Amino acid sequence: MEKRLFLAFEGIDGCGKSTQVKMLAERLTAAGFRVWSTFEPTDSPIGSMIRDIFSHKMEADHRTIAGLFVADRLDHLLNKTNGILKKLDEGYTVITDRYYFSSYAYHGAHMPLDWVIEANSLAADLLRPDLNIYLDITPEIGMQRLSLGRTSMELFETLENQRLVKDKYTEVIRKLETVEKI
Ligand code: TYD
Repeated sequence: MEKRLFLAFEGIDGCGKSTQVKMLAERLTAAGFRVWSTFEPTDSPIGSMIRDIFSHKMEADHRTIAGLFVADRLDHLLNKTNGILKKLDEGYTVITDRYYFSSYAYHGAHMPLDWVIEANSLAADLLRPDLNIYLDITPEIGMQRLSLGRTSMELFETLENQRLVKDKYTEVIRKLETVEKI
C-alpha cells in the first residue's frame, strides 16, 4: 500500500496545536482519508511518568526528562499495537501533536542542542515527518491562554522558559531547514 503522510504539529505551550490537529483530522476524514491522531508525551507508561514529573508528583533532572522523551518517542514509533509505523503501514495518515522538534526546543533550551539531536537520531532515521507544522505565537499570548481555567502550572510553563523555548525553535528550524520539511 502507498505510504500515507506523517504530519507533526509543533510550537510553544498554548500555541493551539491540539485545536489545529483536531480540525485537520476532521477535514481529512471528511475527504475520505483514514486518520490516526496522536500526541507526545504519549499515554504509555513512559509518557505517564513524564506527566507525573510535569505535574510535580515526581522530581527529575531535565537531562533525565530529555532521556525519557527519547524512550517515549521510540515506543510511540515502534509499539507493535498502536505505534506510528504500524499505523502508517495500515494505511492511516498520521498526525502527531509534538514530535522530536519539541525535544530540540524544550531540552535544547537547557542542555547542548547537538546532544538532543543526536539522542533523537534513531527516531529521525526511522521516520521524519513529511511536514513539520510550526505554530508561531508570542510567549505572552501562549501563557495567557494556558492560565485560563488553570489553578496550577506545569514544570516548563513559565514565561521565561517559553521565551527560551521559542528562541530554540527558531534556532533549530534554521539549523535543520535543509534536512527537514518545515
Ligand atoms: P503539551 O503538548 O502541552 O501537552 P498537554 O496539552 O497535554 O499539556 O506537552 C506537554 C509538555 O511536554 C509541554 O510543556 C512540552 C513538553 N515536551 C518536552 O519537554 N519535550 C518533548 O520532547 C515533548 C514532546 C514535549
